[in-house]
Amino acid sequence: MEEQNLPLVIITHSLPTEWLAKLEGKCRTVIGPWDATHFDPSLEPYLAEAEGLFCLLTIPVREELLNRAPKLRVVSNMAVGYDNIDVAACTARRIPVGNTPGVLTAATADLTMALLLAAARQLPQASKDAREGRWITWSPAGWLGADLDGATLGVVGMGKIGRAVAQRAKGFGMKLLYTDIPLPPEVETELGAQRVELPELLRQSDFVTLHVPLTPETRGMIGEEQLRLMKPSAILVNTARGPVVQTAALLKALQEKWIAAAALDVTDPEPLPPDHPLYAQPNCLIVPHIASATHNTRRRMAELACDNLLAGLEGRRLPNCVNPEVYENV
Ligand code: DGY
Repeated sequence: MEEQNLPLVIITHSLPTEWLAKLEGKCRTVIGPWDATHFDPSLEPYLAEAEGLFCLLTIPVREELLNRAPKLRVVSNMAVGYDNIDVAACTARRIPVGNTPGVLTAATADLTMALLLAAARQLPQASKDAREGRWITWSPAGWLGADLDGATLGVVGMGKIGRAVAQRAKGFGMKLLYTDIPLPPEVETELGAQRVELPELLRQSDFVTLHVPLTPETRGMIGEEQLRLMKPSAILVNTARGPVVQTAALLKALQEKWIAAAALDVTDPEPLPPDHPLYAQPNCLIVPHIASATHNTRRRMAELACDNLLAGLEGRRLPNCVNPEVYENV
């Protein structure tokens, strides 16, 4: 097909070209800056003609944007989470929405364990002390942390990532509680995981890790009431979505020591501004939403997002579609 007849695709952020190689010869692309925090104004003139949108989790795709893109035939999110997208509005326009599940499960579970271990063993503080000259001698009572072996991990949300974390935690000798729809009995047995209600999980766990998607039901699900149920020695890890935790309540919990520590890959707001009081909490470890940030994982996420995009442009079913109802009664 002549270049000018290829469908136009908006890619909201510039990405390494090799990640987008599959798109070559299949569409025309306009690409936003790598550091765009919003839908970049330079892309707006192209909305009227765009047939495909390849976006990141930071870009809200709502009515207002969809109304300006009447030719859009596919939205492809380079993320497993899609809370940035008004899926109902896309479905109403029969626009399939793609996401990238599976390829980031292991990397996200690995980072969850890294955060859990770092918080349990006070790695940021210990490293800072070593660099800054406070490593005077081998200190029998210095930098003491919490054991994982024998401790109870509460997994809130037992989807793919929750399960991958549970498997890793089992390898560390942890006991497992979880909340979610029940796992098949053989999986429960294999993991040694017991299903309990959230308040019970919070009361009993030494570590709590969050793996729920952000939905109206999960928004703010960890607030003052829930944090007060946790043990004063407990550590909260969030690699899900920032708004699952109420930030003001978490700050108070850390300041007033209702819990021992938190380790966050995601925050609300995001990015967390540099002067935010959570950074001043020595018992709060914060990293900038990097759970899926390995070379292989990010490349595979981009490739899967390309697969979804191309399927949508070619009128095929998306390999990973979050609103398959768009294919009903066609
Ligand atoms: C996702 O994919 O939803 C993660 O938050 C980013 O890797």
